[in-house]
Parts: sequence; structure tokens; C-alpha cells
Amino acid sequence: VSSMAPALLILLGATVILQTDSLPDENVVLLPPVNFTIKVIDLAQVLLCWEPNPDQEQRNVQLGYHVKINAPEEKDYETRNTESRRVTILHKGFSASVQTILWNNHSFPASSWVSAELEVPPGSPGTSIVNLTCTTNTVAYNYTHEKPYQVSLHCTWIAGKDAPEDTQYFLYYRYGFVTQECQEYSKDTQQRNIACQFPRTVIKSKGRDWLAVYVNGSSKEAAIKPFDQLFALHAIDQVNSPMNVTAEIDRTCLSIQWEKPLSAFPSHCFDYEVKIYNTRKGYFQTEKLKTNTFISIIDDISKYSVQVRAAVSSVCRPTGLWSEWSQPIYVGNDKQKPWTEWFLIVLMAATCFILLIVSLICRICHLWTKLFPPVPAPKSNIKDFFVSINNEKTGSSETEVEVISYAEEAGLETLEASVF
Ligand SMILES: *[C@@H]1O[C@H](CO)[C@@H](O)[C@H](O)[C@H]1NC(C)=O
Ligand SMILES: *[C@@H]1O[C@H](CO)[C@@H](O)[C@H](O)[C@H]1NC(C)=O
Ligand SMILES: *[C@@H]1O[C@H](CO)[C@@H](O)[C@H](O)[C@H]1NC(C)=O
Ligand SMILES: *[C@@H]1O[C@H](CO)[C@@H](O)[C@H](O)[C@H]1NC(C)=O
Ligand SMILES: *[C@@H]1O[C@H](CO)[C@@H](O)[C@H](O)[C@H]1NC(C)=O
Ligand SMILES: *[C@@H]1O[C@H](CO)[C@@H](O)[C@H](O)[C@H]1NC(C)=O
Repeated sequence: VSSMAPALLILLGATVILQTDSLPDENVVLLPPVNFTIKVIDLAQVLLCWEPNPDQEQRNVQLGYHVKINAPEEKDYETRNTESRRVTILHKGFSASVQTILWNNHSFPASSWVSAELEVPPGSPGTSIVNLTCTTNTVAYNYTHEKPYQVSLHCTWIAGKDAPEDTQYFLYYRYGFVTQECQEYSKDTQQRNIACQFPRTVIKSKGRDWLAVYVNGSSKEAAIKPFDQLFALHAIDQVNSPMNVTAEIDRTCLSIQWEKPLSAFPSHCFDYEVKIYNTRKGYFQTEKLKTNTFISIIDDISKYSVQVRAAVSSVCRPTGLWSEWSQPIYVGNDKQKPWTEWFLIVLMAATCFILLIVSLICRICHLWTKLFPPVPAPKSNIKDFFVSINNEKTGSSETEVEVISYAEEAGLETLEASVF
């Protein structure tokens, strides 16, 4: 390398001298490039190649090329190379043109155009898939591995309306230089593949390359038109929900905390949205945040449900989708009495009710009298009672038993009255 450096310097010096002392001759005419070809080099990727015209006078001039993509989407750019790689869909065909220009003088007349094109791939109309949608999701792979995160890919589509019943579709994706075929299809009622799941892919979580997805098919009855589509990762990435959401109420402070979602992006890359639902008043409060905590002042005795969602912020990549809301966390109370108090009240009511039933049954079946057979010669009215009390002075043991018996019956009646 070191021996090449002086050589390069000399060459550069030579070009500078050539350029400065020779403005393009008025007689120079630019000729179009030759052998312009478009080659499919990969899924949804082409290489445009051409050669400088062999008759083009190249002394004293710096040639460049103006490339114009005509289909599927118009685009034009300039280059000094004689080849150019393009990532593009191909199911609508592809066509491009190129002309020779003077690199350092754009007002100098350019050459005529040469064009080339790729045909629309063959297949019967209406047989290719429609409504292809794909989403990616970051999954934990292996924490001990140097790549702890992997990206999964899920795509769904609908069979073409004119696709024969025996049609079978096959999906491939390409990311960077790697192309993989789907291994896990879901089928429709006619056993045609209509969805695909890649639990793991070579897609880089933080990558900025296009994701190319290609679906072709086969059938005995018709040629199935292939379909391809390019996806920007930020637009289809289904971000995971924030983790470990916790909420607690301390007097009038509702404080909520969470952790960043499972993701290859670091903490500072996330925007959050917190949703607090007041179940008593029935209203939502939502807040956009960049932090991992949120404290809200509450003046209401109520039960709150708290949810958080995340999105990768524009600081780290173009704006994409919000994650799903996290599972709701409930805090606070919308009832004045805690459940233990309610439990005691219910328990007491149940006890009284059982006692009442028992006493009713006893009465109906005269169980009472059976269980406590009347003492000999029971007195039947209060008058007698007083009589017996008066007799007490006489000190007969018989009257003493009688008094106890009355007292018990009265006690039971008091209990019954308190139930109602
Ligand atoms: C153009 O292609 C033809 C045929 O492939 C070849 O003979 C010729 O050398 C090519 N011209 C240039 C300038 O490469
Ligand atoms: C660029 O080309 C135009 C047209 O030939 C010529 O008039 C002009 O002098 C050239 N400018 C330079 C800086 O070479
Ligand atoms: C497919 O997508 C088109 C356009 O987005 C929509 O109008 C159509 O309803 C979709 N078809 C089905 C079956 O979802
Ligand atoms: C995780 O990766 C390490 C290193 O590559 C490997 O030894 C280990 O078996 C992997 N564990 C799992 C659960 O895949
Ligand atoms: C579908 O495309 C893949 C990849 O280009 C190719 O290998 C396969 O043969 C194609 N299948 C059909 C049925 O065209
Ligand atoms: C979330 O909480 C669980 C258990 O509470 C813990 O094991 C885990 O490490 C926490 N997650 C993060 C990202 O800290």
C-alpha cells in the first residue's frame, strides 16, 4: 500500500493538470454508452451495467452518466460508475435509461439515451396474491449469546381472486444478502398457504435496509403471477409493550413505574404513553412521556386502571408504530369498606339467619319441649310467676328451677327480636 500511494498522487496530479489546461473542446460530442443491461441479481434487486462508448473520445474529459429509472417508479440520478445496484419491486417489470454526460459541466449537451427493460413476469392475471402485510417483532433469543435479540417475521396475504383451487403459494424474504424460504405456513380452507411465520430471521432490529418479500406460486391449471413488496423496518416493527409496570397510591400521589420493552434499542430511544382510567368517574387521562416514571396527583377516592405503551422515538429511527398497551394494573378503591369488613358483616348476618331458622324449626316441631322437658307442674302465667317469687321466701327448691326456665325463654325471645 505504501508503495502505491506516491503512484496515486502522481496520477491525481496528472488529472488535475489535464483538467485545468483543457476545457472541453467545442467539437467534443458525447456518445451514448453501449451494452446496457439489467440483471436480476437477487430477490427484488437488480444490477444495471453499461460500458463507455468505444468511439467516445475520453482524453481531456471527465465522463459521467445520468441514469433514469422509468418503471416501476420514476427516479433519476448521476454516477461516474458504469454499474448501479437498485433495490426495487419487479412484479410490474422494470425499465431504465442511461446517457453519457460531462461530469463537471452540466450545461454541456448530454448524449442520447440507451434503454433496457425487464419484462413483467409471466402469469395469468388475478392469480397473484393480494393484500400482503408483514410485521416484525423483537424476541429474546439467548442472553448468553452475543446476539441476545432476534427478529421474528409474520406475513399474511389473500389468494388472488382468479387463482385456481390447486394453487400453492411460496414466500421468501431477503434481508441484506440472505434469502430465506418460509417453513411455517398457515392455510385457508382450500389448503392454500395464506400466512407465514418466521420465528427467527436474519433481520437486524436496528437495521435500516429494506426488507424484500416475494411470493410466487404454482398450479397445474395456470401460471401463477409472482408478487413482491419492499418494507421499511420502522414501519412494520411491532414494538413490545413496556415491562414490569407497577403503580401505587400514597395518599394523593399515584406513582407509576415501568421498564423499557424487550428491544435491541437502548432506553433513551423510547417514547411512552401512560393511560390512567378512573373507574368511578369513567374518564381516561393519557400522558406522553420520555421517562420511565409518572406521578399524578389524584383527589379522588377511586379505583384506577393503569396501562403503558411504547414506541421507538424519532431520535433513534424514523417514527413507527406504538406497541400494544401493557396489561392493566389496578390500584386504589372505589368502595369505602375494605373486603374484610364486608366479610365480617356477611358472616354475622349468616349466623343470625341460621339461628333464626333453627329456632323456627324448634318451635314448629316442639323440639324445644322435647329437648327441655317441662319441669313438673309448670306455671302458665306471669301471675303465677309472681306468686312463686313471693313463695320464694318459703325457700322451696321447686320454685328456683321454675325461675331459671322462664329466664331462658325470655332470653331467646330477646335474641329473635334483635334479628329483625
Ligand atoms: C458489448 O458486448 C459485445 C457482445 O457481448 C462484446 O463483444 C463487446 O466487446 C461489448 N462492448 C464493450 C465496450 O464492452
Ligand atoms: C460548459 O459547456 C458549455 C456548453 O458547451 C460551455 O459554453 C461552457 O463554457 C462550459 N463551461 C465550463 C466551465 O467548462
Ligand atoms: C385488500 O386491500 C384493498 C385495498 O387496500 C381493500 O380495499 C380490500 O378490502 C382488501 N381485501 C380484503 C379481502 O381484505
Ligand atoms: C445460548 O448461546 C450459547 C452460546 O452460543 C450456547 O452455548 C447455549 O447453549 C445457548 N442457549 C440456548 C438456550 O440456546
Ligand atoms: C419461486 O421462487 C423461488 C426463488 O426465486 C424459486 O426457487 C422457485 O422455484 C419459485 N417457485 C415457483 C413455483 O415458481
Ligand atoms: C421484571 O420483574 C421480574 C420479576 O419481578 C424480574 O425478574 C425481571 O428482571 C424484571 N425485568 C426487568 C427488565 O428488570
